[in-house]
Amino acid sequence: MASNKKLLVLPGDGIGPEVMHEVLRVVDWMDRRRHVSFDVEEGLVGGAAIEAEGHPCPDRTVEAAARADAVLFGSVGGPRWDKLPFDRRPEIGILRLRKELGLFANLRPAQVWAPLAESSSLKPDLVRGLDLMIVRESTGGIYFGEPRGIEILPDGTRRGFDTESYTEEEITRVARVAFELARKRTNRLTSVEKANVMQSGRFWREVVTEVGKREFADVELSHMYADNCAMQLASRPKQFDVILASNLFGDVLSDLAAAVTGSLGMLPSATLGAADSSGRRHALYEPIHGSAPDIAGKGIANPCAQILSFAMLLRWSFGMEEEAAMVETAVERVLAGGLRTTDIMVPGAARVGTTVMGEAVIRELDKIAA
Ligand code: IPM
Ligand code: MG
Repeated sequence: MASNKKLLVLPGDGIGPEVMHEVLRVVDWMDRRRHVSFDVEEGLVGGAAIEAEGHPCPDRTVEAAARADAVLFGSVGGPRWDKLPFDRRPEIGILRLRKELGLFANLRPAQVWAPLAESSSLKPDLVRGLDLMIVRESTGGIYFGEPRGIEILPDGTRRGFDTESYTEEEITRVARVAFELARKRTNRLTSVEKANVMQSGRFWREVVTEVGKREFADVELSHMYADNCAMQLASRPKQFDVILASNLFGDVLSDLAAAVTGSLGMLPSATLGAADSSGRRHALYEPIHGSAPDIAGKGIANPCAQILSFAMLLRWSFGMEEEAAMVETAVERVLAGGLRTTDIMVPGAARVGTTVMGEAVIRELDKIAA
């Protein structure tokens, strides 16, 4: 049967291909057991693309991503490419895709799975039940602002510089995504900036406040300085529901939130573009953990974040809430059953590798569907 669900799979570097392999089992399972078939195309990105095509994000990959209904992204980067010039680094792979597809809203949930509360660096009570969402702006700010560069000053010393800049439109559209999400959750939004020291931060606060007053008066909006937010995340994370942040602050805070959950290897993310008149939007799904070159090729990476990214894809790109929930439940049951990859290992659990973890998820899916 021809499928109308076009998926572009970009495994990338490091543990990307290993964990993606486990996701493809889930895709295959959906095909066999739920009769939902995907038209899967594979592409090159990051270091893998540099080796094969000489560029971290070849035009062919961007075109395939634009054609696809959803992109499932692994991870990019590794020591092998560390010495390359800035605009040739594997990281350009993800940055170019975000920019060219207009993927401006990066949704990064930080959730503590009940069986993993003990894995957090915080006391279990502080994180048990934690479920927050960071909405990070992802096509603007200092990541893309001009001017940027490293220059030589008249006295011969050097200066490095980047530009943080946000237009009203850029702030408004990502704020809307965050407000809408807050509405679907507990109706609370915390917007983060440094309005005390940055003009662009002051402006961010102003625009978010206006959007709130105008369109989301029912949502409880608060503002927090980014440094304070970091401190609060590390001490009382459960006070938050949805956090809205710029590209850079969102990058930093989402790593912190992930660490607080105790399991980077468990966290998925979605990056969404604007919906067109038919409701179709570009979207890319990727785990938060990155390429983890130190454990790549050893078969010990945790495939859960990549599998859960596929669950987000089912939910956000195809409205397949039931199937998404099945995948999430399967992962949770595997954990409850005591299987652990190294990153989430606790005393008394059974340490397993990538493949065994992936197979266990499929077994749980079979039971759920039975
Ligand atoms: C992330 C990563 C990327 C970023 C890198 C790989 C460019 O850290 O997705 O959080 O900084 O956005
Ligand atoms: Mg990051």
